Amino acid sequence: MEKIVVKGGNKLSGEVNVSSAKNSVLPIIAASILCADKCTLENAPMLEDVFVICDVLKSISCNISIDKQSNRIVIDTSDVTCSEASSDLVKKMRASFLIMGPMIARFGKFKISLPGGCNIGTRPIDLHLKGFTALGAEVNVGHGFVEAKANRLIGNKIYLDFPSVGATENIMMAAVTAEGETIIENAAAEPEIEDLAVFLNKMGAKITGAGTDTIRIIGVKKLKGTTHKPIYDRIEAGTFMVAAAISKSKIRINGANEEHLKPVIAKLTEMGVIMEIAEDSIIVDGSKNLKPIDIKTMPYPGFPTDMQAQMMSLLCCIQGTSVITETIFENRFMHAQELKRMGANIKIDGRTAVIEGVERLTGAEVKATDLRAGAALILAGLVAEGTTEIGDIYHIDRGYVSIEEKFKRLGAEIYRIKI
Ligand code: UD1
Repeated sequence: MEKIVVKGGNKLSGEVNVSSAKNSVLPIIAASILCADKCTLENAPMLEDVFVICDVLKSISCNISIDKQSNRIVIDTSDVTCSEASSDLVKKMRASFLIMGPMIARFGKFKISLPGGCNIGTRPIDLHLKGFTALGAEVNVGHGFVEAKANRLIGNKIYLDFPSVGATENIMMAAVTAEGETIIENAAAEPEIEDLAVFLNKMGAKITGAGTDTIRIIGVKKLKGTTHKPIYDRIEAGTFMVAAAISKSKIRINGANEEHLKPVIAKLTEMGVIMEIAEDSIIVDGSKNLKPIDIKTMPYPGFPTDMQAQMMSLLCCIQGTSVITETIFENRFMHAQELKRMGANIKIDGRTAVIEGVERLTGAEVKATDLRAGAALILAGLVAEGTTEIGDIYHIDRGYVSIEEKFKRLGAEIYRIKI
């Protein structure tokens, strides 16, 4: 087991390079199943979640080579079989369920373990299944498994009750080779969905409207292999933006995309953070006195739930009262308990957190309760008095490439220890 140790108080300076988006890469790797050729991902983030989805594909006989030096992943699905994917892997990571759509599209049937809930909420898959059913699949759930069968998937109009990211992606992938036209309404509009559509279109799919709430897909007969460089990770970029604000520092974040970060930029600007925005980077200056704010998480282009924990750490250090409302996941305030161990003043009432800024956080032993909670604790540790020791950091490694190395290069005193 490992811990991350942070000694608070250092100012940050210099620049940091953001990695590619985990949430783009996971569906894109799953989408490679749709053709029998090789697909190559350039500048892929070398992360635990990415290795897990690769293992899921390997468990159904895909050949995958991961070159950690060049950050290249080559996926060869020519030998993929319609066998059951490893249940352990599917339970380990919910995004494994993203292979369901491509597998039904390629084989006309597939059986996979139910992904189950996770720390931050129950996370059902009803919308994914509603989509597969609308495309003509017969879907059965029982004994902990989902099984879908379809002689031929047929395009249809599908209205999502909620713009679920995973359901939109799974349905898109199932529909690309379906007969006729599929329209997904109230679709999720996240940049990662647009990136998946770019990848699928390079494979020969005919998708328009990805990145808006209405996606149109004209089914094609066959897809071919392609090469793709995913978009940069807006949540990693946002995490470093908050790092500059919380430590009252000025840093350049390379790979930060203004368009994708609009809600984060808007909220930090409202607080008084100064930004210089260039085409492929943002300089963030948090040296001014900052004001408290209210935040409500929403589907894109609203404020991302994946930035909520990091913002909470920041608001804990700003004099005055801030309010965060979490509308996406029902149990995503677990980091509040850990921040309180560091001296934060937070009151939780259902989906609302009321935060009274304190003069100073104090270092403590804390636990990363999920991926973004872990990032939030590192941010709090950067400014806390004394030393913060963060346990359960496997959550952090799921979604951040070399996070302590990146912070160290910016001037933080941070290291990883074995326990
Ligand atoms: C994706 C992201 C995750 C992010 C989340 C919301 C990936 C790999 N993960 O997760 O980092 O926090 O979007 O931006 O891209 N829901 C249903 N029924 C369904 C599906 C979802 O009720 O069939 C609900 C969920 O319980 C949740 C909400 O919809 O409350 C959002 O979930 P969804 O957008 O599907 O998130 P994920 O795709 O799991």
